[in-house]
Amino acid sequence: MPIASDVALGAGVVIHHPELVNLYGCRIGADTRIGSFVEIQRGVVVGRACKISSHSFICEGVAIGDEVFVGHGVVFINDKDPRATTADGRLAAPGDWSLTPTRVEGRASIGSGALIMGGVTIGAGALIGAGALVTHDVAPHTVVAGVPARMLRRREE
Ligand SMILES: CC(C)(COP(=O)(O)OP(=O)(O)OC[C@H]1O[C@@H](n2cnc3c(N)ncnc32)[C@H](O)[C@@H]1OP(=O)(O)O)[C@@H](O)C(=O)NCCC(=O)NCCS
Repeated sequence: MPIASDVALGAGVVIHHPELVNLYGCRIGADTRIGSFVEIQRGVVVGRACKISSHSFICEGVAIGDEVFVGHGVVFINDKDPRATTADGRLAAPGDWSLTPTRVEGRASIGSGALIMGGVTIGAGALIGAGALVTHDVAPHTVVAGVPARMLRRREE
């Protein structure tokens, strides 16, 4: 089912093509807009009046504040040492790995194709350049870009 019955959608949420998203166990704030081919996993909280552009992947452990822009094809990462199986060959299951949480504060913007490593905080009003690989916290109201992402300049408001 593209939008599972355990998803909490705030008033005025717009999902342009509900049949082309994969949302489960998450909470989406009022007036947020979500594009096609977006996956939002269990436990994720997305704030109010955000824009989540098409093809983005928001994994378990991510918390997104209000008025955040997520560009196209943004990928969040929550497992620094992923494995398909355990040491004794069992298929890895919940509990066999440790989740590294990530926070995106209000009015931050994440450019298209950015990769956000687990464990970082993207500060309020920060701007992440297209294609950036974010490996460290990003201070509020700063612009970062590159692989790994480095500060370019300040961003007003
Ligand atoms: C990072 C960004 C904010 C920089 O914008 P800016 O401050 O106006 O910077 P400029 O375009 O003047 O470029 C400054 C320098 O950074 C480089 N640069 C710009 N964007 C870059 C990026 N995404 N990654 C790496 N370097 C980048 C430029 O090549 C330039 O380098 P140079 O001085 O060696 O020539 C912007 O380019 C960007 O990526 N914005 C995100 C856009 C986006 O993804 N929108 C999504 C919806 S369409």
